[in-house]
Amino acid sequence: MILSSEKHEFLIQAAKVAAESAYAPYSNYFVGAAILTESGEIFTGCNIENRVLGGSICAERTAIVKAVSEGHRKFQAIAVHCKNNEGWPCGVCRQFIAEFGLETQIIVESDNKKLVVKKISELLPEKPVGVTT
Ligand code: THU
Repeated sequence: MILSSEKHEFLIQAAKVAAESAYAPYSNYFVGAAILTESGEIFTGCNIENRVLGGSICAERTAIVKAVSEGHRKFQAIAVHCKNNEGWPCGVCRQFIAEFGLETQIIVESDNKKLVVKKISELLPEKPVGVTT
């Protein structure tokens, strides 16, 4: 599905709002994400850190967990915003996004304020061992 640049911009703005809720007292990286479902709904998420190593969750996965737990499994796009600097989804989040489809678009605002859009299949091009589809 082709998304307009207005929609990309809208999703980035939603990710920026979500980043305001980030709980990041350990890293001080404040991240927000906004995911657009196939049916047009938007779910947002932020990173939530924990003093117990390994207990933290990234913004993208927060948004996806919210969407999937509300019955959504197909996504058009996910915008990611880090308040500190340009940042793309980490490896675990790439895998998490790819689980639900390889066509999902990732939208990030570059440090020079331009929106960059890539498919998750570009960010995670090779299949892991055991994945046949
Ligand atoms: N973080 C995200 O929320 N998304 C990513 O894709 C990469 C990293 C968060 C996790 C941690 O709270 C902080 O950014 C620093 O890694």
